[in-house]
Amino acid sequence: MDYLQEIDVAAPGFCEFYDELPLWSAPFGLLLLDRVPMKPGLTFLDVGAGTGFLSIELAERCGAFSRVIAVDPWKPAVERLRRKVRQRQLQNIVVLEQKAEDIDIPEASVDVIVSNLGINNFEDPVLVLQTCRRVAKPGAHLLLTTNLVGHMVEFYESFRSVLIEEGHLDRVDTLEAHVNHRATIASVTKLLKGAGFGVVEVATDSFRLRFADGSSLLRHYFIRLGFLPGWKSVAGSLPTGMFEALERKLNHVASERGELALTIPMACFVARKE
Ligand SMILES: C[S@@+](CC[C@H](N)C(=O)[O-])C[C@H]1O[C@@H](n2cnc3c(N)ncnc32)[C@H](O)[C@@H]1O
Repeated sequence: MDYLQEIDVAAPGFCEFYDELPLWSAPFGLLLLDRVPMKPGLTFLDVGAGTGFLSIELAERCGAFSRVIAVDPWKPAVERLRRKVRQRQLQNIVVLEQKAEDIDIPEASVDVIVSNLGINNFEDPVLVLQTCRRVAKPGAHLLLTTNLVGHMVEFYESFRSVLIEEGHLDRVDTLEAHVNHRATIASVTKLLKGAGFGVVEVATDSFRLRFADGSSLLRHYFIRLGFLPGWKSVAGSLPTGMFEALERKLNHVASERGELALTIPMACFVARKE
């Protein structure tokens, strides 16, 4: 009985992987895991697996007779996922370091395709979805999550006010384009339909990212990683004074509201190959 052997929390590597997924990815992943088909013997493809928490979760929850193919071109993430797979001694995960559109697996060989926060990161989502259709079995499921337009609406209200107050009216259209580049239920449904997947369910939810004030928001590690580059592109060549004004505005809003809470609307699309 292999499972009767207890997990050794003092073992090398245990703590390296104990906190093994980004907090940002977790609420989206939960939405997906609540809906994904769960039975032994399925073949999954995790598109844009990143460091792979979803691949591991599926491989373990669906058991040794299931198989998970994780694909991502991000080398260090793929290497970390391979280390996690070794540490857990999982035999049913294959990790591929490549773009999903270049994947070389047989046609009609996958039962379930998942992608947590992938679609908003792919350079060519249409090509990725066409590849998904090619490798999906007839009637295969595809589940993907994304954040939606409305993302951080409270932040963008302040950003817009600052651009107007500081006289940078020419940047307001750039800001609107940035806000509206995010997915909507209609845009993703259309994308999926165009690739030959019919949407059978759209589950929506939201959570809040809360900060004490604007200064802490703008210095938060994941904010700087995931969102600051987009905000800088809206600001364009504007002086750093614009970000100083934004920080002051956000701090003012936080002092009035008692905190700075940003809403993150999210959706999980459940589709089937038509
Ligand atoms: C926001 S991360 C999500 C990672 C992971 N699914 C999670 O939820 O933590 C998006 C991932 O998509 C990957 N990606 C970008 N372009 C891709 C492509 N063409 N094919 C496969 N993965 C891609 C990135 O390398 C990155 O790991």
